[in-house]
Amino acid sequence: MNRIKIVGIGPGHKDYILPIAYKTIEEADLLIGGSRNLEVFQDYKKETLCYEGNLKEIVETMAIQKENNKKIVVLVSGDTGFYSLLDYIKNFFSDEDIEVIPGISSFQYLFSRLKRSYKGYGLYSLHGRDIQVDAYIEKHQGVFLLTDEKNTPSSIVTSIMDAYGHWKMIVGENLSYENEKITQGKVKDFRKKEFSKLCVVVIEKYVE
Ligand SMILES: C[S@@+](CC[C@H](N)C(=O)[O-])C[C@H]1O[C@@H](n2cnc3c(N)ncnc32)[C@H](O)[C@@H]1O
Repeated sequence: MNRIKIVGIGPGHKDYILPIAYKTIEEADLLIGGSRNLEVFQDYKKETLCYEGNLKEIVETMAIQKENNKKIVVLVSGDTGFYSLLDYIKNFFSDEDIEVIPGISSFQYLFSRLKRSYKGYGLYSLHGRDIQVDAYIEKHQGVFLLTDEKNTPSSIVTSIMDAYGHWKMIVGENLSYENEKITQGKVKDFRKKEFSKLCVVVIEKYVE
């Protein structure tokens, strides 16, 4: 019986996808993913299923297609181990039913562009969840944050401005794409700035 393959496809650009991910995707019968992830493989002419908030339905389809012995590949952005669909899928399938192929995470990519290691940084997600950023900041040398359309860089600035306005903020937009932009400054300088939908944020102590 074929296993469901959950494949990390990196930050977005094709050059950051591992050879084993390409091989697995080439062999697939059915590709499941968000529209941004499916777009990368549109030339492969595979049967596709797009998830946009219909996760329960997707899992039901996966179970049926697995019974039919279809080769199912679930594409996730970045790495499988960092706030991907992996945990949700594991609620429905056993370890024997799945195989996991890692990818390059948005935090690995950003720190490589900054030419730094991420040792000592707290890695958190505001994607689809609310956390009090200030409760985590002091615990680390800095924090890396995934954002979403509600928890944007501007909303982060508003929530930490009073206590951490003098700290350093880095925003990485559209990482690895042609329109990639990395902006650095003090938290207070980011007030009222607009950013792309796809972005990550680092907050850290300011060093002159
Ligand atoms: C569901 S999370 C997935 C995180 C992913 N597993 C990882 O390892 O980076 C999606 C969030 O990742 C971040 N992200 C993913 N790709 C990105 C990119 N190319 N540029 C900027 N942010 C990105 C954004 O904050 C986005 O809202």
